[in-house]
Amino acid sequence: MDISLRSGEPTQLATPCLVIGVFSDQAFSHSAAAVDQAGDGELSRRKQTGDIDCRTGKTTLLHSVAGSEADRILLVGCGKAEAFDRHAFYKTCVAAGKFLRDHVIREALSCLHELALNDTPDDAWKVRHSAIGIDHANYRYEATKKPKDEQPQPLAELQLLAGGEFQPAVDQARGIGAGYRRARELGNLPPNICNPDFLAQQAAEIAQRYDRCELEVLGRQEMADLQMGALLGVAQGSATEPKLIVLKYRGGGKSQRPTVLVGKGITFDTGGISLKPAENMDQMKYDMCGAASVIGAFEACAHMQLPVNLITVVAAVENMPDGASYRPGDVLTSMSGQTIEVLNTDAEGRLILCDALTYSERFEPESVIDVATLTGACVIALGHHASGLMSKHDDLAEELLAAGRDNVDRAWRLPLWDDYQSQLDTPFADMKNVGGMPAGSVTAGCFLSRFMKKQRWAHLDIAGSAWKWATQEGATGRPVGLLTGYLISKSAG
Ligand code: BES
Ligand code: MN
Ligand code: ZN
Repeated sequence: MDISLRSGEPTQLATPCLVIGVFSDQAFSHSAAAVDQAGDGELSRRKQTGDIDCRTGKTTLLHSVAGSEADRILLVGCGKAEAFDRHAFYKTCVAAGKFLRDHVIREALSCLHELALNDTPDDAWKVRHSAIGIDHANYRYEATKKPKDEQPQPLAELQLLAGGEFQPAVDQARGIGAGYRRARELGNLPPNICNPDFLAQQAAEIAQRYDRCELEVLGRQEMADLQMGALLGVAQGSATEPKLIVLKYRGGGKSQRPTVLVGKGITFDTGGISLKPAENMDQMKYDMCGAASVIGAFEACAHMQLPVNLITVVAAVENMPDGASYRPGDVLTSMSGQTIEVLNTDAEGRLILCDALTYSERFEPESVIDVATLTGACVIALGHHASGLMSKHDDLAEELLAAGRDNVDRAWRLPLWDDYQSQLDTPFADMKNVGGMPAGSVTAGCFLSRFMKKQRWAHLDIAGSAWKWATQEGATGRPVGLLTGYLISKSAG
């Protein structure tokens, strides 16, 4: 979907579809009021008669409205003005986008950013997020299911009724939109296509496409040379070779220490010898969504050419049962030298991540953020609305929480207190890979913290937020918004 700015009088602009938001209890926004006035109160009358549905997210399509040169006007309900915050705004934009996606309209002109919000983000924020929301709704998975001829095509062009001073907001929307799409597509692709090698190819494509990028891919041998015994333990049972994918973007100064994003890329999680039940096992194709989101955030950053240094490290591995698989009881030696007793081969995410985290130390990072569909317990704790955030660094945690709030991609913090660490004790190694029933997400975070003792580090558990469980909607692309928002605010100083 192409996004552009267009200026002019709302009453005089020809377009296949003008998109306007309406509150149930407040006067029309600027463009709607202009059309209403030019059309002798046509819109007001329709609102009064109840022909315009002003309830949140409801849509009404009107043809050839007096006072407007548009072929159609799409009115999107916003509910009561006092409850209209950035979250509601974003949902309204997604609702508008879904309507446009499902109808013949291929080009639209939006004024949604004129709406007043109760938590006062500026106009650039509204321009940016209206475009991201509409773009989000217009994504359609087509890689292995071609659309039928009679199906309407998604929106090809979105224009925003705003002046040239909003070009930076549009550029950000394009970049973030590209990142979200990449993450969703990778998440949705089946595990027989999207395997470690495929992720490496995607990274290569990104490194090719954008300036200032570099790629390095390590295979089994290189990782063995680095003594990544934990990651390689998980990979042992799989016929596909594991890959450590390292994307580098240099947008900042030479002396500027990089931000490192680390992603869990289990391209399929069977559980291994601790096999998962058959029901819903297909959902474990999404176990690489952490990897997908850090690749997406990398692409967004490179697309925007942000003045930051960024390194993305993806641990791409398949967790399979096989004669060569690692087993419960095995003791693995991680790259850090610490030993790990495997008590459940289904707690594999922390095993691949710990070596990727140790590897990331060589970049002397300013901060390290890992993203992983790590624990079912996180879904129990937070459901599907918030990602779980864990960090011992309060300032970093606050920055990430703020980035989540500001980008409609929220996280919620869980404690990483040392009190939980003893749940990982075992007589046979430095730690075991499971901490038992209580606080399963926290003990997974505690496990990772043992490999990030010297770093400014945060962990995001996206088990609940990365995809819509057992619905048709698939991967959400989260937390691309949070991560890119964090990088943007960093680059702003
Ligand atoms: N990938 C799963 C976590 C997961 C489960 C994410 C369900 C989303 C939905 C992870 O590898 C896993 O299997 N974790 C185990 C850990 C346990 C064995 C300590 C879990 O959560 O059950
Ligand atoms: Mn698992
Ligand atoms: Zn997993």
